Amino acid sequence: MIILQGTSEPLKLNHHAEDGGIILKIGIDRLTFATTELYLDLRDLAAARHVDPDKYLIGIGQSQQAVIPPTQDAVTLAAQAAAKIPAAELAQVSTVIVATESGVDNSKAAALYVKQLLGLSDFVRTIELKEACYSATAGLQFAKGLVALHPTEKILVIASDIARYGLQTGGEVTQGGGAVAMVVAKDPRVLELESTSVAFSQDVMDFWRPLYRSEALVDGKYSTQVYIDFFQACWQRYQQLTGATLDDFAGFLFHLPFTKMGKKALASELGDRDDQVAQRFWAVLQASQVYSRRVGNLYTGSLYLSLLSALNHGQLQAGNRLGLFSYGSGAEGEFLTGRLVDGFAAALERPDAMLDQRRQVSVAEYETLFNQHLGLQSQDCTFDLSDSQAPFVLAGQQNHQRQYQRRG
Ligand code: CAA
Repeated sequence: MIILQGTSEPLKLNHHAEDGGIILKIGIDRLTFATTELYLDLRDLAAARHVDPDKYLIGIGQSQQAVIPPTQDAVTLAAQAAAKIPAAELAQVSTVIVATESGVDNSKAAALYVKQLLGLSDFVRTIELKEACYSATAGLQFAKGLVALHPTEKILVIASDIARYGLQTGGEVTQGGGAVAMVVAKDPRVLELESTSVAFSQDVMDFWRPLYRSEALVDGKYSTQVYIDFFQACWQRYQQLTGATLDDFAGFLFHLPFTKMGKKALASELGDRDDQVAQRFWAVLQASQVYSRRVGNLYTGSLYLSLLSALNHGQLQAGNRLGLFSYGSGAEGEFLTGRLVDGFAAALERPDAMLDQRRQVSVAEYETLFNQHLGLQSQDCTFDLSDSQAPFVLAGQQNHQRQYQRRG
């Protein structure tokens, strides 16, 4: 159990960076999402693993899972999400931050490959961030700081991951993959980030991936408890600092490693409360779960996919304040807040049709593709690209160098 320490002195809730006396509004200006062309129906996985399908569909809260062919990785998915941003906006980007747990090199930043695939100017700063599923939130905060210092800059923050636990493991049903791309700018069109946020970190072994492994190690039940404890630690501290209550929010968005996790976290706050506020929070949570239920865990991108889902499927309006809880095992949490901007829907992707158009694969095909993953192998190889329509692909490996291609 976590012991909270700290001041109870209230801070101003809506304090912004200043530029020559002018208050700067900084936040998410564009939000896009990409995943693979393939998915597995979790009823098929349940049958293959001799599990009651309701355990996956209701108990875990997942219906489908993105299947990752060997031709896709954190770089290709990141490029695919970012390429959905209009070219004129990409051309204004000064910094590319790729947040990932699934980096493809121990030295070189994934952001460099992504920048190259997107054809961005060489006068762009590129960097990769890591802390399990949390690092995109650090990326957002760093981007906000850059814009506060240089208000004309736009920062591209991409959260891209492949969640791999292994075939026939307890975590298998919570795999998935994809990327969310966000442009951070002043006078944002989607979500204006507020200043007060609470970060919380402790050295905890709930989920980790040693350098010699391409699948995570996890203490699953423990990780769900740490997640809830960190959420409560951040939220309670936020209330101490600001004097805010649930009444000040339209709803909360959560990192969703599986959709039931959001339900557990929200229940830790609402209990069996059933008033209007509680109903509003449950409705926002439900809207935020739509895409995760069909894609699975995106690690760094999951919280921001929840945001996209809530904005596309909920009843949220301009001016609504949202609380976002970011969690990365190991472990780090952060509670941050933002206000929706007038006309936010125009700067969002609506990925529903793209998800409908994916091809369903059998459990046998999923297992074959899972085992073809390049992983830690050092030999040269060439992948068959004939089945893929993806705009960015990993074509293979030559002389220890990954071979990426932009198509079309
Ligand atoms: N019908 C309906 N529900 C059923 C059912 C049935 N027939 N059979 C079981 N269930 C329910 C259970 O009651 C349980 O519900 P509660 O959690 O509400 O009690 C739920 O299904 C899961 O069943 P189990 O408790 O048996 O769980 P499990 O042993 O299969 O493990 C898991 C579940 C821990 C999530 C596992 O999949 C796992 O380890 N996943 C990876 C770790 C993870 O995602 N952790 C999340 C926090 S860490 C994090 O957020 C960072 C990150 O991204 C990894």
